[in-house]
Amino acid sequence: MNRYLSIAILCLSFVLAIPAQAETAANNYRTYCMQCHGLKGNGMGLNIRDMSVQPRDHTDAKSMGGRSDAELFKVIKEGGLAINKSALMPPWGDVFSDAEIQDLVKYLRKLCQCSHEG
Ligand code: HEC
Repeated sequence: MNRYLSIAILCLSFVLAIPAQAETAANNYRTYCMQCHGLKGNGMGLNIRDMSVQPRDHTDAKSMGGRSDAELFKVIKEGGLAINKSALMPPWGDVFSDAEIQDLVKYLRKLCQCSHEG
């Protein structure tokens, strides 16, 4: 292949790959998390009327800021019980790769506009 063409394709794939990754986490959230955590991540999903423990409001910087990225990773991968929370938060380790879970953690940080304090 022409060398300039392959460099052009390489550049293009970087440009396309970055937004595609953020898009995937947002899509995954919309598909798998929204029914409980709500479209905007504010904990107001369709399921909540019947749930004894209410889903976390992911836009709440105060409570989300109290969690490290490692804890968020763990609760998404292994479910609520893994961090002594409700089993109503399901484990997602069979659905997502570790990389996809990392992306979801980043997405949660965007929703709460927070990082872990201390
Ligand atoms: C069937 C409903 C349901 C679905 C679907 C669901 N969650 Fe949850 N989630 C919960 C509930 C309920 C809690 C609160 C558990 C508690 O407080 O004991 C929770 C808690 C969490 C927490 C812990 C926050 C904290 O610090 O306490 C994270 C992070 C989270 N969910 C992420 C996700 C992500 C990401 C998805 C999608 C991949 C998802 N959840 C899908 C019900 C759900």
